[in-house]
Amino acid sequence: MDLRLADLAARDRYKLLTSLVVPRPIAFVTSQDADGLVNAAPYSFFNVFSDEPPLVVIGIGRRAGGALKDTARNIEAKGEFVINLVDEELAAAMNVAAVDFPPETSEPGPAGLGLAASIVVRPPRIAEAPAALECRNHTTLVIGTDHRLVVGEVLAVHVRDGLVDPGTLRIDFDAYRPVGRLFANLYCSTRDAFELVRENYAQWRRRTGGE
Ligand SMILES: Cc1cc2nc3c(=O)[nH]c(=O)nc-3n(C[C@H](O)[C@H](O)[C@H](O)COP(=O)(O)O)c2cc1C
Repeated sequence: MDLRLADLAARDRYKLLTSLVVPRPIAFVTSQDADGLVNAAPYSFFNVFSDEPPLVVIGIGRRAGGALKDTARNIEAKGEFVINLVDEELAAAMNVAAVDFPPETSEPGPAGLGLAASIVVRPPRIAEAPAALECRNHTTLVIGTDHRLVVGEVLAVHVRDGLVDPGTLRIDFDAYRPVGRLFANLYCSTRDAFELVRENYAQWRRRTGGE
């Protein structure tokens, strides 16, 4: 089946693209409004982009009625935010934080989550998160009327003790247990990870005798 996106309604494009581009990591973003109120919300249009400078990207849409989401407004106003990574234990509380609470509600409260001070940015991290990336807003691309691509520079990283080897910086995946977003209400774990050893050209030729 071939589909031209121009022939599809926006809702169908969303459905198709977000169920094909899976699994997506989840940025559980904490930010602060002008009065310092802490906002927390999940964003799965998210990925790491580069290491020099160390950048991450998040796609933020608008609320159904057209209002700017609190996360977008806070990042614009304060220029700082924290991306909390989501593991299996944190998933249910992350989902509570996705409720379209009014701006005056601080989601960590109803989600039953604690906050911990960040190292270099003002917004705090989620205390229960296995890891957190402290970010300064690098650039925001406003695309059309409804979408923002927020680029964040990662200034500091917090990782829960025991998850990272301090010598090698390798992550213990049996202990980390991150979740990914599939489509709609579906999520996946990393319990069935498998290995593919990456070869260079010389190794590939030796193994296959090809080319
Ligand atoms: C797992 C998950 C991923 C989400 N990803 C996005 C996303 O990438 N972009 C977006 O605009 N909304 C996304 N949402 C919806 C927002 O989390 C939701 O609109 C939230 O109320 C925004 O909160 P805020 O106004 O406090 O920023 C996602 C929701 C869930 C549950």
